[in-house]
Amino acid sequence: MASFWHVVTRGHAVEPERGWATVGEIGAKPKARMATTTETAVRVARLLPTDLSGRETLVEYQARGGYADETWTRTGVELIDAVEASGLRGRGGSGFPAGRKWRSVAGQPGGRVVLINAAESEPASRKDRTLLILRPHLVLEGALLAARAVGADEVVLYAHDDAADALASVEAAWHELKTLRWRLPRWRIVTAAHGYVAGEESAAIQRCNGKAAKPTFKPPLAYQRGIRNRPTLVQNVETLANIPLIGARGADWFRTVGTPEFPGTVLVTLSGAVRRPGVYEVGSGTPLGDVLEELGGGTPGGAGIRAVLVGGYFAGWLPGTAVDRVQLEPASLARHGVALGSAAIVVVPDTVCGLTQAVRLLQFFADESARQCGPCTFGTQAMADALGRIARGRLEPNDLVRLRTWAERTLPRRGACGHLDGATIAATTALRVFADEIGTHTRRGTCGKPATVVLPGLEEPSRREPS
Ligand SMILES: Cc1cc2nc3c(=O)[nH]c(=O)nc-3n(C[C@H](O)[C@H](O)[C@H](O)COP(=O)(O)O)c2cc1C
Ligand code: SF4
Repeated sequence: MASFWHVVTRGHAVEPERGWATVGEIGAKPKARMATTTETAVRVARLLPTDLSGRETLVEYQARGGYADETWTRTGVELIDAVEASGLRGRGGSGFPAGRKWRSVAGQPGGRVVLINAAESEPASRKDRTLLILRPHLVLEGALLAARAVGADEVVLYAHDDAADALASVEAAWHELKTLRWRLPRWRIVTAAHGYVAGEESAAIQRCNGKAAKPTFKPPLAYQRGIRNRPTLVQNVETLANIPLIGARGADWFRTVGTPEFPGTVLVTLSGAVRRPGVYEVGSGTPLGDVLEELGGGTPGGAGIRAVLVGGYFAGWLPGTAVDRVQLEPASLARHGVALGSAAIVVVPDTVCGLTQAVRLLQFFADESARQCGPCTFGTQAMADALGRIARGRLEPNDLVRLRTWAERTLPRRGACGHLDGATIAATTALRVFADEIGTHTRRGTCGKPATVVLPGLEEPSRREPS
């Protein structure tokens, strides 16, 4: 993968473009060298403190207030009440209220399990890996508190097998934790081969149960029957990282940053046409334009912004013209037809062909389909093929009408998991955002701009030939 990433740990940037290292680059060994950047008004430091320069040890974490007595004297019920009152919502993509999920799991009979979803299968996201590498104890304490609250005697960390750096960091933290001689739940790490749908929660559970990491039809949901048929709390890494802070400082403190509907901070991963790509922490509700300018440093060469993926590959295309009108919180984004998702923000400059990005993204959804549901297997490829033909100016009669009908009416909610819905959102928003390019390509087969793909992980063409 191209050297896109640098990791920003409040005040420090690691910039691979200048031959420096990256935590984010898949398969790359992090060899961090730090450069100082200036703090900005936009940046917040709850999950990623400024003075971190590598893995935070147990001693350092405790010095920062971790594993605090006041947190651990809370009962399970008190913890659930605090999480519910905090308004914390899941950071893995769906934004489901964490407190409500905890209550559902705690209300189920039998032994329970906590699953830390560290798959981070979204190619444009590096936030979970960054947290695990830099602050493994924050995530572990979140998981342990969750286990206490829902009455779980087992904690499982689920990650992709190429996340060796993150896994090594967590394993080291777990060994340190054992020196405290606490009564810890059973602990295991489960890995899966890389794949987009492998991060979906039922796929994660399948893998933890020794099967292929493919989604299943629901019900049962994880909270009813998950790992070894036990009620399972599946929670994203970033979601769990917020728990020790809520436990120690309380729900009211948590709500002092962010919007009332989506309190707290958001870890955004900036990539594409930004001068300072990386992982940054901002309050929810921060204007997107401020994030791109103040943290991302604007576009290289001052290029205009043609479009942005705000919530990763799942959550839809936003036109560049809307950047200064949206805030990073679900309601504002929903008014523009997109979602916060995993807050992986990819900027497409107006110097490359936008329609090319949209076609490549649809082909990604087709390539990554688990091919279990007919509508997903055939629908994702049919949408990619139709938009591909439009982009090449070789469209068949009704291609545009059919694509719109599939994306808006025929395919939504027809898959066992959200993958197909992600593809339909990518298609419907592309039809809207790239309408001008579609008109030009339909007539001339090109818009004249380079067909260079700027989406992380998708720079290489798909192995499948377009039809
Ligand atoms: C295709 C697909 C892929 C997903 N990949 C991830 C992932 O890599 N990591 C993650 O935390 N959630 C992922 N999710 C969301 C999970 O299914 C689940 O909602 C989440 O882990 C719950 O945690 P949260 O409530 O803390 O967000 C994915 C969902 C879908 C439909
Ligand atoms: S919707 Fe697609 S990815 Fe999800 S289970 Fe069905 S075939 Fe697999």
